[in-house]
Amino acid sequence: MEIGMKFRSILLAFSLVLAGLSSAAHAQAPALQGDAGSGKTLAYTCHGCHGIPDYKNAYPTYSVPKLGGQHANYIVAALKGYSSQQRSHPTMYSHAATMSDQDMADIAAFLQAEEVKAGNPAKGTPPAVTATCVACHGNDGVGITPDFPTLAGQQADYIEHSLHAYKSGARKNPIMAGFVTALTDDDIKAIAAYFSSQKGLCATDEVRKHGKCK
Ligand code: HEC
Ligand code: HEC
Repeated sequence: MEIGMKFRSILLAFSLVLAGLSSAAHAQAPALQGDAGSGKTLAYTCHGCHGIPDYKNAYPTYSVPKLGGQHANYIVAALKGYSSQQRSHPTMYSHAATMSDQDMADIAAFLQAEEVKAGNPAKGTPPAVTATCVACHGNDGVGITPDFPTLAGQQADYIEHSLHAYKSGARKNPIMAGFVTALTDDDIKAIAAYFSSQKGLCATDEVRKHGKCK
């Protein structure tokens, strides 16, 4: 009797674990296949800001991020971040909120184009403070998986803006939140200068005109 009870409670515990595992698996919806051709049409309005080199966001002032060559997975994650308001930006919210998951996948496939690849020789010496960052963002600033954004060639003032936003909690991300707490303003400047000077991302106009970053 006693053994029977124990056995049943072990079975119950085991099935709860299994249920937990399978619901976690369901939460991770399979990535949609993006159609770059359709993405090209859908991304038409994006070039007005992301296509112009050094176009600035106003209040606060910082350069609009480069998207050409960025990992498609990360572009989709960023768009979902705006539509769910995990990331707040009024213009990006109004764009992302009207997109279907398929639209996002298509746009991301187009913008990724010939994704920036790792392996470019690093320019300069990575500041010591980047030692933990490179595990995910790569020595040369190319995200080592499609979920880790490429920072190589990104606008320095946008990188600075992002790191300050993680620090203040204005931009919420459980992974990044832990890595920015100890960074000083000087660290942030050095990080941004290093990653922005690497060969990598481009303005979307290059992708529109040449099908890739030149
Ligand atoms: C009015 C200018 C403007 C337009 C038009 C615009 N964006 Fe943006 N976009 C921005 C700014 C500014 C940011 C940075 C916001 C922030 O600080 O989070 C941004 C951020 C992004 C990001 C996140 C980049 C990163 O590295 O995290 C993606 C992805 C993006 N935009 C995609 C698009 C797409 C796709 C379109 C067209 C459907 C578009 N944007 C249209 C200004 C614009
Ligand atoms: C464990 C992996 C990991 C480590 C380590 C890590 N990051 Fe990140 N980083 C991410 C992920 C994932 C994102 C995207 C988060 C989001 O959606 O906001 C990100 C986003 C960023 C962004 C914003 C990029 C953009 O286009 O908006 C910057 C800048 C950045 N990280 C810099 C750093 C720096 C500097 C360090 C080291 C101090 C670091 N990261 C350490 C995984 C990591």
